[in-house]
Amino acid sequence: MSDSIIVNRLAGSLGAELTGFKLNDLSDENMGRVKELLLKHQVLFFPEQFLSIDEHVDFGSWFGPLESHPNLDNPFTHHPQVFELAASHGGLADEWHSDLSFQSEPAVASILNMVECPDVGGDTLWTSTYTAFEALSEPMQELCCGLTALHDAAPHGTPDVTAIHPVVRIHPETGRKALFVNEHFTRRVVELSYEESRVLLDYLFSWIAKPRFTVRYRWRKGTIAIWDNRCTQHFVLSDFVQQRIIQRVTVIGDQPSSDSAPRWEPFIRTENQGATSRYDAQLNRHLGRHAVMLESNAKRSSNEKT
Ligand SMILES: [Fe+2]
Repeated sequence: MSDSIIVNRLAGSLGAELTGFKLNDLSDENMGRVKELLLKHQVLFFPEQFLSIDEHVDFGSWFGPLESHPNLDNPFTHHPQVFELAASHGGLADEWHSDLSFQSEPAVASILNMVECPDVGGDTLWTSTYTAFEALSEPMQELCCGLTALHDAAPHGTPDVTAIHPVVRIHPETGRKALFVNEHFTRRVVELSYEESRVLLDYLFSWIAKPRFTVRYRWRKGTIAIWDNRCTQHFVLSDFVQQRIIQRVTVIGDQPSSDSAPRWEPFIRTENQGATSRYDAQLNRHLGRHAVMLESNAKRSSNEKT
């Protein structure tokens, strides 16, 4: 019965712990309730579940088709849909991010099983990008709503895997607006010069990390967590010495959308390429204008010689 779910909110912006039931014995009614609670609280925690790999996959499948990780090997679990990260093997994302935002259709949700965790340290923080957006001033909101940003998979060693998304996306199920730039995968704002983009992104990255938008969770072995990647970001604290092993399944994504097209054209440097031109190369490549730029540079160079 859905009334057997006990909900304890953990912070003002987001996060709730759900107890009183087992995820491996969930009725359709309770599953519907869990989905509602995820939309409301954005990240949910289910302590003392101790799910098997198959049960973890089954729970994740309630939320949609699952994907395997596009860039990282999966040498531990050998399950095509379960991605395992062990801190002793360098698997720790200690920068704010939403999972796989460099994809054209980034993950909708991630479901994590804490298999092994240290006695102390290794907490994860989540931030609500709804409340971070809503707390911006109106002029800043308006500016951000007219912009898009380039994301890349450089942290996974593949910087040419790129995608452009709105800086503010609309959640398809709640209709709320959320900031959608993160320090791990977002490289620049498309419509601004690199220098302008750097200032704006640095500001937004620090804004998103304000403690009042966040919740911090102390893990225990056997806890399951699910978060909505469309309206949250997360950050793992690297303040521990013991082993920390997580297993994650990821729900296949959707295309981030906004309520309007970008208000400006992409920023294309037209003057001679100076010392900062390297900052524009990646964007030009993504836009397919690399060849055009080289051609115009060659013409200019040829004219200067004659
Ligand atoms: Fe992550």
